Amino acid sequence: MQITINGQTIDVQDGLTIMDACAIAGIDIPSLCYLKDVSSNASCGICVVEVKGARSLLRSCITQITEGMEIVTNSQRVMDARRMNLELLLANHPQDCLICDRNENCELQQLTFDLGMHGMRFVRTRKEILPKDETSASLVRDPEKCILCGRCIAVCREVQSVQAIDFSGRGSKSKVATFMDLGLGVVACTSCGQCALVCPTGAITEKSSIDAVWKDLHNHEKIVLVQTAPAIRVGIGEAMGMPYGSLVTRQMVAGLRKLGFSKVFDTNFTADLTIIEEGHELIKRIKTGGVLPMITSCSPGWIKFIEHFYPKSLPHLSTCKSPQQMFGAVAKTYYAEKTGLDPRNIIVVSVMPCTAKKFEARRPEMDSAFHYWQAKMNLSDADHFYDVDHVLTTRELARMFKETGIEFAHLPEENFDSPLGESTGAAVIFGTTGGVMEAALRTAYEVYTGKTLANIDFNAVRGLNGIKEAEVDLDGTKIKVAVAHTLKNARKLLDEIENGTSPYTFIEVMTCPGGCLGGGGQPIPTNTEIRKMRAESIYYEDAHKGIRKSHENPEIHYLYKEFLLEPLGEKSHRLLHTKYIERKN
Ligand code: SF4
Ligand code: SF4
Ligand code: SF4
Ligand code: FES
Repeated sequence: MQITINGQTIDVQDGLTIMDACAIAGIDIPSLCYLKDVSSNASCGICVVEVKGARSLLRSCITQITEGMEIVTNSQRVMDARRMNLELLLANHPQDCLICDRNENCELQQLTFDLGMHGMRFVRTRKEILPKDETSASLVRDPEKCILCGRCIAVCREVQSVQAIDFSGRGSKSKVATFMDLGLGVVACTSCGQCALVCPTGAITEKSSIDAVWKDLHNHEKIVLVQTAPAIRVGIGEAMGMPYGSLVTRQMVAGLRKLGFSKVFDTNFTADLTIIEEGHELIKRIKTGGVLPMITSCSPGWIKFIEHFYPKSLPHLSTCKSPQQMFGAVAKTYYAEKTGLDPRNIIVVSVMPCTAKKFEARRPEMDSAFHYWQAKMNLSDADHFYDVDHVLTTRELARMFKETGIEFAHLPEENFDSPLGESTGAAVIFGTTGGVMEAALRTAYEVYTGKTLANIDFNAVRGLNGIKEAEVDLDGTKIKVAVAHTLKNARKLLDEIENGTSPYTFIEVMTCPGGCLGGGGQPIPTNTEIRKMRAESIYYEDAHKGIRKSHENPEIHYLYKEFLLEPLGEKSHRLLHTKYIERKN
């Protein structure tokens, strides 16, 4: 159809919004509440345009184009209205930019600059100062910085199907709140952090561990080890100003050494270990009539979700801890023993794409290494330590690099330390939806059949479709598998399990859209196009790894030979497996 934008006639396809049509014409309409694929509640009024024949200005994010429509995006009336709407939002907003976590990466701040705001005419309408919500182990909500755009509510409801937050109150008393204002740490929030990822301001951020990490790095009695999750290597470059999806594995290692970490290890090592344990668990369940389908357990937001909403299905979860937690337990037992270090002096820092990992690290049962040493070293409760001490998101790591003036793009390439740094291609694909399934199938097939896989790429479980499925022939035993990302999609698979219609033997669930590469701790912005670029880099790294199957990782062989002895053995159960609890909604 034909429309006119600012006097220029263009041909565009039917069904577009004015905002999308303008984008095709090369005009970027400013917006705040709208977020493609997530939120379109049209509350902010920043995107208004003039349309010939319409009495009032129209919100371009929700208004569909019609044949012959004449649109003006740059009139004085439009610019005044946008500034007025922004000014109204700013009236209740603190002027905290210099000390705000989102400084220099804030849509509100950027928009204020872009719209040429020079003064503030309106006084604050909200009477009381709204307190911060710091009840969550993962996130902090600061309602004073909230502009009521509704993106967080939309992502929590539409993408995650959780509904932990909603609007409450009217007029100047409006706010985003949890049930009865109990706080995110009390209600059935999964800690996924998708709300923080879409928030245009500093109103929801991860709970920072930066100061605690610096304190330990500056304590010379501590040996501070760092582990990096698979998705960090395709995220941290972006956060340091490089192109989307930049693959920077070895520069990241060099940067972490410059920050002062004693050893730079890789969560990919324990991703391989997870595959060995989980693959054997799956085979055991198939051979012995165990609970099927078995569902992966490495995404902590997903674990909290099933504990809150589907406790009846908990026996379907693999008992394997996540790679983050396996790393902490192995570092403070096997590595401590091998190097003669006192486990009380070892600090394990994780760099994760995920805010829920902060919650996971503080689950009371995640202290296996302490119990391992308790009797051997006669430790008292005062000596208590967790397997993982601190969790940093990708964004927090970027802040630490910036604090120390590290020029990331110019870092040399360095290798991970040994023995917890060697990994395979199977491990790196843990960072994307379908990756854990593919890695598990590469190992389960060869262990189950004793044969070598002809083609190790399982393309059916790759890509960003919400639910993917495949059939795998284990030498005569055919199994159906499924992969879901986002909790809304996971819910569909759980409903099938609970009503007895699930056809699957093995299911992978990742909490966040796209898997960990789209985690709540990843750089902002994160959107579908950016997720695809990060996924491409992850598969590139897999394809170029010398070893691509977890069971061929030589350092994993040593770990079993020298310490664990066998998959699913007694030590594995104590250190690498866990249990789950039913949680209230
Ligand atoms: S949320 Fe944005 S505009 Fe508000 S104080 Fe923080 S950086 Fe500034
Ligand atoms: S962390 Fe996830 S579950 Fe919790 S409020 Fe945010 S989007 Fe909802
Ligand atoms: S917390 Fe952020 S995303 Fe949620 S309504 Fe407020 S500004 Fe929007
Ligand atoms: S972006 Fe259109 S109303 Fe907010």
